[in-house]
Amino acid sequence: MWKRIGIILIFTLSTIHFKQFCLATEDESNELKLAIVNHETNYTNLTYQECDWKPGCKLKQLSCRYLDEFMNHINITITEEYYRTPEEAKDAVRTNKVVGALYFTENFTDALVARLLLGNMSDDNTINQSEVRVWLDTSNQPVGETLPTDLHVAFQNFTKDIHSDCNIREELLEIPLSLMNLD
Ligand SMILES: *[C@@H]1O[C@H](CO)[C@@H](O)[C@H](O)[C@H]1NC(C)=O
Ligand SMILES: *[C@@H]1O[C@H](CO)[C@@H](O)[C@H](O)[C@H]1NC(C)=O
Ligand SMILES: *[C@@H]1O[C@H](CO)[C@@H](O)[C@H](O)[C@H]1NC(C)=O
Ligand SMILES: *[C@@H]1O[C@H](CO)[C@@H](O)[C@H](O)[C@H]1NC(C)=O
Ligand SMILES: *[C@@H]1O[C@H](CO)[C@@H](O)[C@H](O)[C@H]1NC(C)=O
Ligand SMILES: *[C@@H]1O[C@H](CO)[C@@H](O)[C@H](O)[C@H]1NC(C)=O
Ligand SMILES: *[C@@H]1O[C@H](CO)[C@@H](O)[C@H](O)[C@H]1NC(C)=O
Repeated sequence: MWKRIGIILIFTLSTIHFKQFCLATEDESNELKLAIVNHETNYTNLTYQECDWKPGCKLKQLSCRYLDEFMNHINITITEEYYRTPEEAKDAVRTNKVVGALYFTENFTDALVARLLLGNMSDDNTINQSEVRVWLDTSNQPVGETLPTDLHVAFQNFTKDIHSDCNIREELLEIPLSLMNLD
């Protein structure tokens, strides 16, 4: 059964333009910060959140594995900052404290694994929980131009690794990208 399974990858990508803040923040610092909200692990503080994963076919805390894959391959220097809730993280994007936010639900790993097994027979809830939610300030040049691609490539690499570690035949499908507006 495992052998016939393909994967559909969906990112929820929201973009925020707050051009009025651009000039105000230019002088402050060149450091780019990305907000991480990861409900799969326990929250510690703004600068630290434990996020361990084990190599091989270990289907636990896959959000951490994905984050590592992503952070290890991006070209620009980005610092992670940890937030408790997606609302706080979105506010941080709005107020230019961070250039973007990534949110993993507490059920991310289970939902992703279920989705790998069920493909498009997954129920809506599974689909919803297995999505990485991304909000980016696309008015920021390196962020708007390269991060969406980097996020996708990293996700492909990440699922490729899981496929090969778990001996599942690789059948990556096209990645649908759903653009959403920030309410
Ligand atoms: C989070 O903390 C609780 C209580 O200390 C612990 O039982 C649980 O294993 C921790 N979860 C993770 C992912 O470390
Ligand atoms: C955050 O937590 C880590 C690990 O417990 C600790 O080393 C660090 O000093 C904390 N940082 C702040 C700003 O509290
Ligand atoms: C990384 O940066 C170099 C130099 O700016 C650029 O040529 C290259 O295309 C970048 N690679 C990726 C994956 O963004
Ligand atoms: C995660 O799954 C549990 C058990 O199915 C469920 O009770 C919980 O509401 C889910 N979490 C979210 C954020 O939906
Ligand atoms: C996916 O959905 C389409 C249409 O809803 C269906 O024709 C197709 O057989 C499904 N594929 C799988 C693998 O379930
Ligand atoms: C997932 O479900 C929650 C709660 O039902 C909803 O608020 C949210 O918009 C959904 N997210 C996506 C990306 O569909
Ligand atoms: C994806 O994997 C390839 C081969 O291992 C590597 O060259 C590339 O840098 C990776 N890209 C990302 C974005 O992880």
